[in-house]
Amino acid sequence: MYAMKILVLGSTGMLGSRIVSELEHRGHQVARGVRPGSGSPGTEVDPRAPASVAAAAAGHDAVVNALGRGTHGDVRVVAEAAVPLLTGLAAAGCPRLLVVGGAGSLVDRDGRRVIDGPEFPDEWKPASQAQIDALDAYRGYDGPVEWTYLSPSDVIEPGRRTGRVELGGDRLLRGEDGTSYVSAEDYAVALVDELENPAHPRRRFTVRSR
Ligand SMILES: NC(=O)c1ccc[n+]([C@@H]2O[C@H](COP(=O)([O-])OP(=O)(O)OC[C@H]3O[C@@H](n4cnc5c(N)ncnc54)[C@H](OP(=O)(O)O)[C@@H]3O)[C@@H](O)[C@H]2O)c1
Repeated sequence: MYAMKILVLGSTGMLGSRIVSELEHRGHQVARGVRPGSGSPGTEVDPRAPASVAAAAAGHDAVVNALGRGTHGDVRVVAEAAVPLLTGLAAAGCPRLLVVGGAGSLVDRDGRRVIDGPEFPDEWKPASQAQIDALDAYRGYDGPVEWTYLSPSDVIEPGRRTGRVELGGDRLLRGEDGTSYVSAEDYAVALVDELENPAHPRRRFTVRSR
């Protein structure tokens, strides 16, 4: 595997930081995208501004969008940045966008979307809906950038990097005991696997830890 040049947006986040670690562990060259004015070390990128995205993405093999709530509680950023990111990457000639997605749009065993299930907490709905809106934007895109959207399991949190993952499509994955779980480290493994060996161009897929 040749070393890729990857820009990671949201590099200071729970998932973004683990994706940076996984990429560096595999010998890839990583640029850390950080919020303008945050003072965090890295490349400042405004993800809602195509020109800012294009300037940062130029010369990279792919961009990872690990944006989320962050320190400012900006839950809408994932939806509002979708089209600007695609526009910016296309302008820069950067061919691929890997999106850290949500689980709310996955279909559960009762046939309902996870966000519509009886146990889905109200306080998570705005962030989950923003991710659903983002996925709709990616699915409606017909430009040159090859996007892929990776939904986690229902529960994703820092844990162990087992490297043993199960992949799925549009349905929530559950183990034999009924739990739907992926460690943040195994999520990063699946995302970097997809970067190295693209298997889901212009599609959503999902992952759980075995
Ligand atoms: N079960 C689920 O469905 C599930 C569970 C967890 C997460 N997720 C999804 O995964 C994604 C990442 O989650 P996370 O927990 O890793 O998020 P997080 O820890 O809150 O990190 C979010 C990152 O985005 C950055 N960011 C936010 N707004 C920005 C802006 N306007 N400009 C530049 N950078 C900005 C933050 O920068 P600062 O540090 O400067 O704020 C931070 O690096 C989220 O979109 C979330 O929807 C889904």
